[in-house]
Amino acid sequence: MSSPNYLIREYPLQQGALEIAYIEEFFNEFPTRKTAAEIIGRLEGREFQILMADSALPDESAAVVPVSYKVSHELRAEEHDPQLADLVARLSDTIDFGRERVLYNWLGATRLDWRGQGHFRALTEEQEFWAVTQGYDSIVVKTKNRYYDMRGTLDSLQFNVIKLEPAADPLESKVYLAKRLGPFVLDAHRSRRQVVRG
Ligand SMILES: CC(C)(COP(=O)(O)OP(=O)(O)OC[C@H]1O[C@@H](n2cnc3c(N)ncnc32)[C@H](O)[C@@H]1OP(=O)(O)O)[C@@H](O)C(=O)NCCC(=O)NCCS
Repeated sequence: MSSPNYLIREYPLQQGALEIAYIEEFFNEFPTRKTAAEIIGRLEGREFQILMADSALPDESAAVVPVSYKVSHELRAEEHDPQLADLVARLSDTIDFGRERVLYNWLGATRLDWRGQGHFRALTEEQEFWAVTQGYDSIVVKTKNRYYDMRGTLDSLQFNVIKLEPAADPLESKVYLAKRLGPFVLDAHRSRRQVVRG
């Protein structure tokens, strides 16, 4: 059997923000969903990437819908957004933001019925290709102990834990992970992707 060819779209800011806000409506497991305005507010004025994977509906193969997404942006030594400044401060003992170019995995998920089909790996590989091309040194992501699906996935994608912030309830402990980038990362890629931009 031939391996699937993943269909990925890369979006500009305005349209991408609307698409992300729309797809997040399908995720009941997220306590808060981002509005398009929040997404634009975070990404405007910085380098970012908005990726979505499309796939056929299981019952109606002619119809194609967005099923997985990934939003990342640069994280700088000097951040004015309080949340990002806090993130940089928390990671500054493990990452040298003055020397490294760091990409932050902000948002990402796959719709329930399409999980385990490689969509998130395909998006991640496309993101890594872009990040290496743009000269990023590492990708950083934050999650919690209780997000087992995400932790298992990040393990498969070869992210390393760089920091743990214990909480009173261990399920709520924050886990920070990072992946170093370089051409060697691209050598490990295995998804076949068709990418549409704009
Ligand atoms: C995590 C998530 C994005 C994975 O998406 P997906 O499209 O199913 O992932 P893929 O099919 O591309 O799998 C990528 C890799 O992760 C592995 N993986 C996927 N789900 C896994 C799980 N639950 N446990 C362990 N490994 C898992 C796959 O085996 C695959 O590894 P491989 O390519 O080496 O075989 C999806 O489960 C999800 O959206 N979960 C909810 C999001 C969430 O918890 N967010 C919390 C905030 S961080």
